[in-house]
Amino acid sequence: MPPTVDDASSNQRVSRVGRVAVVGRGRLGTALSGALRAAGITVDGPLGRGATADGADVVLLAVPDAAIRAAGAAIAPGPFVGHLSGATSLAPLTAHHAFSLHPLMTVPAQGPDVPATDFQGVPAAVAGVDEDALAVAGNLARALGLVPFEVPEEDRVAYHAAACVASNFLVTLEGIAERLAGTAGVDRAALVPLVRATVENWARLGAREALTGPVARGDAATVDAHRVEISRRVPEAIGVFDALTQATRALAAGAAREEPAGGPGMTTVRTVAELRATLAAHRAAGRTVALVPTMGALHEGHLSLIRAARATSDVVVVSVFVNPTQFDDPADLAAYPRTEAADVALAASAGADLVFAPAPDELYPTGFATTVSVTGPVTATLEGAHRGRGHFDGVATVVTKLLIAVAPDVAWFGAKDAQQVVVVRRAVADLGLPVRIEVGPTVREPDGLAMSSRNVRLGADDRRRALSLSRALRAVQDAAAAGSTAADAREAGLRELAVDGVEPEYLTLADPATLEPVATLDRPALALVAAQVGPVRLIDNVTITPAITPAAAGAAPTGAR
Ligand code: PAJ
Repeated sequence: MPPTVDDASSNQRVSRVGRVAVVGRGRLGTALSGALRAAGITVDGPLGRGATADGADVVLLAVPDAAIRAAGAAIAPGPFVGHLSGATSLAPLTAHHAFSLHPLMTVPAQGPDVPATDFQGVPAAVAGVDEDALAVAGNLARALGLVPFEVPEEDRVAYHAAACVASNFLVTLEGIAERLAGTAGVDRAALVPLVRATVENWARLGAREALTGPVARGDAATVDAHRVEISRRVPEAIGVFDALTQATRALAAGAAREEPAGGPGMTTVRTVAELRATLAAHRAAGRTVALVPTMGALHEGHLSLIRAARATSDVVVVSVFVNPTQFDDPADLAAYPRTEAADVALAASAGADLVFAPAPDELYPTGFATTVSVTGPVTATLEGAHRGRGHFDGVATVVTKLLIAVAPDVAWFGAKDAQQVVVVRRAVADLGLPVRIEVGPTVREPDGLAMSSRNVRLGADDRRRALSLSRALRAVQDAAAAGSTAADAREAGLRELAVDGVEPEYLTLADPATLEPVATLDRPALALVAAQVGPVRLIDNVTITPAITPAAAGAAPTGAR
């Protein structure tokens, strides 16, 4: 905790403070007015918003964050004016001798079952525009029984985020646990002692020591079984479950090892120079090197590639780099999940030896002006047509740079991004890069959704609607296997999307090597789909193995595109 606010200087000023006006009649204003009165302080209020608080030496604005500026403007300059927000800076109160006081305590709505909020011993973050204002904040806090500590303005947002994670997110999690327990006929009350004991253990022992359970034990079978039931019973929670499973693994991995960066044998490097120096030693010893390029937020899809690389090469390098040049939408780039600590631990657990996690300017130095651009039908269609050619320019450029930097014997890619594989193979062949490209199968959630780092951004309803993509591809596959024409198989897929009101950007049957549309199902093809579902653009594909029947082989040209 930062240093507590000095007692000696503030004690004299509390007497000078005298009369306190509380503006705001909500929960906090009401609770604080009562607590200040109980502490023997003369209190006006709680007053309504917009009160002028005449005659007060100190005004406490217990109003919503967005109303602080207006509530402050109603007060004539003179008294110390403070707000009670953790998130808001002192800027809205610049006309005043401003301070802030944020008790680290939730104040639920009063009711018959809700006891009055007890502020005794509760830490409170204080800030002031100068020493006097800070002392007033400290004094008020102490009068309430709070324990003040100072948070510098530049750290305010981080402090408040920590408080929200500790408190609000915990409630969200218990809400999920409650719903899941309900599906098993277990009342939420049965969870309460467990939750209390867990929080107490964390408070006493710290996060690593308090961590128990199947993820921490490395009991993958139990975690998988949980995952299946959660995706059936509370599917909207699967993104949270996955993100927390990853974070918990990382925490447990950190607890098991002394070194946080993946433990013994696992190294994270940030520069190409370090990367080359590390790999040179392996090459000198005659070891083969595999590269798994990723943009992080690792999930089972990525881990399956790392495991495949581990099984077939001596040294496995995983690159973690959110490549800005392949994003066509700045909002998508900004929202892309970044979870490096968990990624490092997960990569290590799947058998990686080295994580290469460069900063953007390591790969794109000032003045960067070279692009690897795969042209022609391979990039003009599907993702190239809908995201723009720039997307594959970004992919081809960064993959080429990674292949040059790592110089692996083999690089692993996922079938999930089928067009990316075709583009990478083209660039590698055209540039004569001495690397073998291997492809791992698409890994899916138990309910069929293709795993993607972006899935965590799907809300409950969109998570359910997103299933229509894999259902649609399955329908195309089934129809093709039953001997339908390409056009009919595609129609079957479109019907599945329509069930959930999902409009595809494309649903296409294409040649696996060239991605050109196929009109006749006389050999294996790919069915590829892309659609915006809520805030997330999703892609998926499957291989179609048609029934070789005279009808299918001789089918007329179709409208598949
Ligand atoms: P990213 O989306 O992180 O994916 C990294 C690799 O994991 C890609 O080869 C991708 O096809 C594979 N992958 C993703 N989801 C998968 C799943 N459900 N099953 C199997 N494999 C899956 O693709 C990229 O990053 C970037 O474009 C990159 C190649 C790293 C260049 O920036």
